[in-house]
Amino acid sequence: MATLTARSAQADTVRTDAVVVGVARSKKGMVAVDAASETAKAFGRSFVPTLTSLGFEGKPGQVAKLPSGHVVRTPLTVAVGLGDLAELDREGLRRAAAAGVRAVSNGVSVALALPVDEAADVQAVGEGALLALYEYDRYRTSESNGRPGDVVVLCDKARSKQVKEAVERADTVARAVGLARDWVNTPPNDLTPELFADAISAHRSKGKVKVNVLDEKDLAKQGCGGILGVGVGSDHPPRLVSVTYSPRKPKAKIALVGKGITFDSGGLSLKPGAAMMTMKCDMSGAAAVVAATYAIAELGLPVAVTAYASLAENLPSGTATRPGDVLTMRNGKTVEVLNTDAEGRLVLGDALDMAVEAEPDLVVDVATLTGACRVALGTRVAGVLSNDDAMRELMPQVSDRAGEPMWPLPIPEEVTRKVKDSAIADLRQHNPEPYAGTLFAAAFLREFVRDTRWVHLDIAGPAFNEGEPFGYTPKGGTGAAVRTLVRLVQEVAEDNLPRTG
Ligand code: BES
Ligand code: MN
Ligand code: ZN
Repeated sequence: MATLTARSAQADTVRTDAVVVGVARSKKGMVAVDAASETAKAFGRSFVPTLTSLGFEGKPGQVAKLPSGHVVRTPLTVAVGLGDLAELDREGLRRAAAAGVRAVSNGVSVALALPVDEAADVQAVGEGALLALYEYDRYRTSESNGRPGDVVVLCDKARSKQVKEAVERADTVARAVGLARDWVNTPPNDLTPELFADAISAHRSKGKVKVNVLDEKDLAKQGCGGILGVGVGSDHPPRLVSVTYSPRKPKAKIALVGKGITFDSGGLSLKPGAAMMTMKCDMSGAAAVVAATYAIAELGLPVAVTAYASLAENLPSGTATRPGDVLTMRNGKTVEVLNTDAEGRLVLGDALDMAVEAEPDLVVDVATLTGACRVALGTRVAGVLSNDDAMRELMPQVSDRAGEPMWPLPIPEEVTRKVKDSAIADLRQHNPEPYAGTLFAAAFLREFVRDTRWVHLDIAGPAFNEGEPFGYTPKGGTGAAVRTLVRLVQEVAEDNLPRTG
């Protein structure tokens, strides 16, 4: 990954290969803002007319590249549009940084002259740049595109404790998002449940977390009929991995649970081929909770966190679970399986039961759970469902501050009733009608959380980007929910959320 630093250098004299300067639109026309104004001054009166001739209007995300000649020290100047300054928020800063660094390549160093008034702005710029520079090249035998090596955020107070912490946070968060993206992008033949468990164990965050792996025998002893039932069709047996971070004097205890289907074929209720193409992404929830826990541990936040990654491969075979089978879950409830493609709720049910047994103040699960959530909210917004009204309201606010859009959805009474409407078992696993698939799945999960405050994040939309890169989001795995989880724990640590429990 590119390196990130903050420096109090001037935009026109900084010793990098390129400098990105923020240009806003105002009533008077385009203006280079704050640190960028030095560059504009050096270019003189030709600055704005040159940009205009290049078709640059200062719109958010727009870039124009200017060879610097001998006007400023960096050989290349990249103007990046900020739009109207009054509307520029931290997400705008992340995107501006992303557009700027994406405009240059081949291992060059880049300085960013963007309006950063507070340490949190520096964090946003750093995050946007590092997240945009992500590349997955593990399987390329030819040379990769080459991404910039060093990112320097220009900032007056670069030596202050707050700015140093902001840089460290941006770096830690971006590395965690990158790790989650790497895992999601890894082909499913190289990320079976065993291999995923090995990868999690290998990465112990410098000794700050404890990792525990339950194999199929342990899972049988624990009575995890849901995880075993989903994994039984595959030659690669399931795993349940927990990652625990226990700081001294924690302010709260939070459990994170992630869906880790390393490949979802649908099982005997087989998906059509086209729908299977992206199903290596079905472990995005597990990747997110583990990567976020590493970041939380590395940042030393005073909140105890345990992540549970429920890992299985959903394949059809002579041993696979059938529609019509009944499974007994870890909490003792029996479930009539009616569609083996609704497997996520089964692996999550057991893991949620285990998570709430440790009596956390809050449990958050993250899952690429339902195609219905993509239908409802599209591919960039995650769904938030909860048994707690305050948390359902708060989560989208927390996620917004992290730069990840989420939206609340209800769990209505009539849907809850349907979950209990099995002809032969305690619960039915699959909705009898083609409506409210996301809500039904959440109502099913709620059967496993007892009285614990619980939030469910359905990331089936934002987990995987099938389209072209946008903002700081690349093609493929996006690392969705990592930043929100880190932010949530940070806000709990800062008492910015009402005391849980
Ligand atoms: N992993 C899928 C959901 C999904 C779909 C995630 C598209 C990301 C992109 C999940 O296991 C699934 O197959 N859900 C079914 C549920 C149905 C059988 C009740 C679905 O959404 O069709
Ligand atoms: Mn499925
Ligand atoms: Zn699935």
